[in-house]
Amino acid sequence: MGCAIIGCGKSLPALEVRNDELRALVDTNDEWITTRTGIKSRHIAVSESNADLGEAAARRALGWMCGGFAECRIDAADIDLIVCATVTPDAVVPSAAGLLRRRLGLTRAVAFDLNAACSGFVYGLTVAENMMAASAPSTAGAAGRNPVRRALVVGSERLTRLTNWSDRNTCVLFGDGAGAAVLEWDDARPGIISSYIVNEDDATNALTCAMSFDAPQPFDENGISHTAARSDDPGLARTDAELGITELVEAGRPRQTLYMSGQKVFKFAAEAMTVAVHQTLQRANLSLDDIACVVPHQANERIIKYAAKKLGKPMDFFQLSIENTGNSSAASVPMALADAYAEGRIRPGDKVVLVAFGGGFTSGAVLFEA
Ligand code: UT7
Repeated sequence: MGCAIIGCGKSLPALEVRNDELRALVDTNDEWITTRTGIKSRHIAVSESNADLGEAAARRALGWMCGGFAECRIDAADIDLIVCATVTPDAVVPSAAGLLRRRLGLTRAVAFDLNAACSGFVYGLTVAENMMAASAPSTAGAAGRNPVRRALVVGSERLTRLTNWSDRNTCVLFGDGAGAAVLEWDDARPGIISSYIVNEDDATNALTCAMSFDAPQPFDENGISHTAARSDDPGLARTDAELGITELVEAGRPRQTLYMSGQKVFKFAAEAMTVAVHQTLQRANLSLDDIACVVPHQANERIIKYAAKKLGKPMDFFQLSIENTGNSSAASVPMALADAYAEGRIRPGDKVVLVAFGGGFTSGAVLFEA
């Protein structure tokens, strides 16, 4: 018995920007981007919101719209849980998952967001599967928990809203999009067999995006110091310490946009990916020979090549979708999974590993039987 993936879909913004077009913004070229990353183009959400992208991907995964993989059409009343993995929600409140709940009419579902950077979808699947297993009828104490029989897990990003478009080291890498999966607890299927999620300190702040929530407020250390909070009052300016981002500011990291020391992240990513694959296999008492394919986070084709070499597998063992998407953070793995289904790579009974790594640092993998 287990938590089966019964639907999967993706959605991309309409605007596609080719490498050469970025020359209008920074000193770059198609040859550099292609050889260093495998990216040829990326989609950029100009008019689409995070919720627009997530909704379209979810509709495909639920079997409400063509273009996805769906074993059946799921009724809105049958979804008990929505987890949305994102670092770029349209609002802090309501959550991206809450917006999807409303738009899709999933009125029975409990909904919340999850931020684990690019590993978000893998973390989201793990959390959803844990909640489903904990509330399964055969589990001791299940009656005391929220019953979760079906769940919608979404990775949805408008990463290009955090992109520094004058930094050629990063702006050529990112793209927008969304992917979604529907999970169902099934007594007759193994579904998700094992998972592994882990965090490591990003000690040198190699991948950051410092956000400040700095609406003025009338307090200082001694209590109320102003009768009225006016946004133009310099006395109300929040210090970096108050904002909790002193360390990032001292390290010279920008606010509101993504910063990345590419080589440091590359080193972490290459190692983290192979460790996560091995750990999920070990937890399931399986070997790579039992696996039909690996669907990795699409950050850089070279990282996938490195992992392929370390794992002793050819490149066609890995789903590659980066060419026309770039790195779309939490949307990357579910979009690549949707591609793998669309390309007929995943057949019933196949065992598949999803693997991701991201800022924080976060990393992890999920092994499931289709
Ligand atoms: O999902 C989050 C995880 N993120 C990642 O996994 C990203 C991991 N890192 C990477 O993928 C790679 O490190 C990058 C693709 C970001 C960079 O590749 P690299 O081989 O590590 O290049 P580099 O940073 O060492 O830069 C090499 C050169 C530099 O020039 P000099 O100093 O050698 O003259 C850069 O200034 O390439 C230059 N450069 C560029 N040139 C043309 C950097 N960006 C560009 C660009 N176009 N866009």
